[in-house]
Amino acid sequence: MVVQQFDLNNLEGLCRLDSTGMIDALAGLPAQCLLAVRDICSSVELPSIEAISNIVVTGLGGSAIGGDLLRVYTADKIQVPITVNRDYSLPGFVGPDTLVFAVSYSGNTEETLSAYKEARARGASVIAITTGGELAGMVEKDGVPLVRIPTGCAPRAATGYLFIPTLVILQRLGMLPDMTDETTAMAGFIKELQKKIGPESPREENVSKQLAHKLYKKLPVIWGVTGTTEVVAQRWKGQINENAKAPAYWNVFPELNHNEIVGFEYPLEVLNKIHLVILRDKQDHPRIQKRIEVTKDIIKDTIDGVTEVWSSGEGDLARLFSLVYTGDYASLYLAALYGIDPGPVKAIDFLKWELAAE
Ligand code: F6R
Repeated sequence: MVVQQFDLNNLEGLCRLDSTGMIDALAGLPAQCLLAVRDICSSVELPSIEAISNIVVTGLGGSAIGGDLLRVYTADKIQVPITVNRDYSLPGFVGPDTLVFAVSYSGNTEETLSAYKEARARGASVIAITTGGELAGMVEKDGVPLVRIPTGCAPRAATGYLFIPTLVILQRLGMLPDMTDETTAMAGFIKELQKKIGPESPREENVSKQLAHKLYKKLPVIWGVTGTTEVVAQRWKGQINENAKAPAYWNVFPELNHNEIVGFEYPLEVLNKIHLVILRDKQDHPRIQKRIEVTKDIIKDTIDGVTEVWSSGEGDLARLFSLVYTGDYASLYLAALYGIDPGPVKAIDFLKWELAAE
């Protein structure tokens, strides 16, 4: 029996598959960013935090990626290092001169709760970002500043709420320049982009829909560049996993030039299933651009194909988010091509439930 492939121009069908409203939540990303930059943190009372020599964002999955966006986007703007911690424990350097953002959309992720407690015990300054859960209960009891973000979507669909508050708080603490204008411009830009890559835009003109078709029944491998698109490559991988329930892998230039490129000879049965996506940004170092060109030549013969996706927009933040948004939509469309509901993440829920039962 020949199974008819899902038609991505079928809006009604897309919505029918999407039981938890992932498509609507994604359309709301520009509004999320605006709300986060204007309102969400305004009533949060920040203690006087002085002599901070490092910052740690601790969280997992959809709550951690905002930390990576912060780290990459502010790398040339902030005077102290930012580390993203995805674990129960914190790195040894964390102490009274550390600012820790404890980020958990649900507020119930056990690794984040454990890291939060450790941060407090080590005398770090802590700020929590959550919708509620145990984390909100603990921080209220401890008198720790709390950025309470709106509930109602999956953590991975709440990137605006989870990332932008870290920027705003660092601005308010005087550790970053005011980036309200750039953030507002980014939100405006991705709102326009949404018209081109959102579900209403037909496949013939829609880069995200075209990408989903290229990745369908293939093994997606996403390559970014250290310091710029690395966070996007990681994001695409996670979104393909969680939304499309499919495997995906990521790596970065230039490191992959020193190992991964050698591995494109065997086994051919696996290699010819790989569809490689290279994330491109005009700010990438000229030597990196050269590396990308040579690398494409080295690996092109054994794999299914290579698609390059360029960032668009003005300013670092808009370019970063243009790629994040393109991948987020592609992952939802890929889910539709597989005929599945992008929302539920049964494997994650099961694991959390099993662990909670102990
Ligand atoms: C689910 C998702 C996951 C969660 C992760 C941590 O949509 O994105 O990656 O983000 O399991 O849970 P929270 O974000 O509630 O701390």
